[in-house]
Amino acid sequence: MAKEKITLSVIKADVGGFVGHSDVHPELLKKAESELAKAKSDGLIIDFHRGKVGDDIALIMTHRKGSDNADIHRFAWETFEKCTEVARKLHQYGAGQDLLSDAFSGNIKGMGPGVAEMEFVERPSEPVLIFLADKTEPGAWNYPLYKMFADPFNTIGLIIDAKMHNGFNFEVDDLIERKKVIFSLPEEMYEMLVFIGAPSRFVIKNVMRKDDGDIAAATSTQKLSLIAGRYIGKDDPVMIVRAQSGLPAVGEVLEPFAMPHIVAGWMRGSSHGPLMPVGFDQDTPTRFDGPPRVVGLGFQLADGMLVGPRDMFKDISYDNARKKALDVADYLRLHGPFEPHRLPLDEMEYTTMPEVMERLKDRFEPAD
Ligand code: F6R
Ligand code: MG
Ligand code: MG
Repeated sequence: MAKEKITLSVIKADVGGFVGHSDVHPELLKKAESELAKAKSDGLIIDFHRGKVGDDIALIMTHRKGSDNADIHRFAWETFEKCTEVARKLHQYGAGQDLLSDAFSGNIKGMGPGVAEMEFVERPSEPVLIFLADKTEPGAWNYPLYKMFADPFNTIGLIIDAKMHNGFNFEVDDLIERKKVIFSLPEEMYEMLVFIGAPSRFVIKNVMRKDDGDIAAATSTQKLSLIAGRYIGKDDPVMIVRAQSGLPAVGEVLEPFAMPHIVAGWMRGSSHGPLMPVGFDQDTPTRFDGPPRVVGLGFQLADGMLVGPRDMFKDISYDNARKKALDVADYLRLHGPFEPHRLPLDEMEYTTMPEVMERLKDRFEPAD
């Protein structure tokens, strides 16, 4: 009999910050954990880990109900509602921020929280890496995913491991037009780069191994401002990547983060800054509400149980990346309100800036 597929769901939300947008109060984390424990004892999920980065809580869950399952999504929604109640009691900042709807409507996608899910048959040994980022947007994963699955200078396995030699298919979503396209790499590398080099609009959603179509990576692509029609906070995306045995090795999955690439987000969601890889004990953005950061959680799955996490970026080999990120942050900060530290005007459309522009529009007169 074919082995039943396991589903890995990572659903995240900011339902209140401690202090400002820098961290989550321990009481909210405790609430999320106790709800997850209940879901496990009720048999809804197989196992869980309560993840966190900055002011975001991530519910990391394994189950056998498939992606987009209403029971799982409802559970996540109700858990975030319960955490919001705690946040309100403690007057946490922006309590309930990411819950954009009054009532659950069957699928949590489109309601504010970020969702990354994948279904696969668990291998005899299944190493999985889960990344959580704060103060940035879903397109922040484009650069590392491209490096992991398409760049042999990052992933030498693309050359050396016969199982990866045929390459990977990338699903790229157009977040504005709400369309998707699949690119086959390496042949369509140049075509894909035209789009993913513009990460505010084109975002890698899934990566599949070409040999067998097996899922290798999945990201959250929810953009809060597009759902709400106004700026409320950055999306703070999550990502799941499977590793080893015909997929990039754990070290190849982590390698792109040695370069703290520039992402959009940071202060007021309106600034460019480096994405700094950090250990769990450094996940609280404070300087200018940042800089943006990412934590990496490593798990081995064991019949759906999440053995872990290991704190993947809490390693001396990421010290230089952190140092570089801090130097880049210093340099960009010197630009103050000037581009390219500040986002270009068309992206400022998704911040609170349009209100200011509206107030000033009558001041403009025809010029020569
Ligand atoms: C960025 C972020 C913060 C806030 C900033 C202003 O994603 O959440 O940088 O934008 O702290 O917040 P408000 O407007 O609530 O005072
Ligand atoms: Mg916040
Ligand atoms: Mg956040």
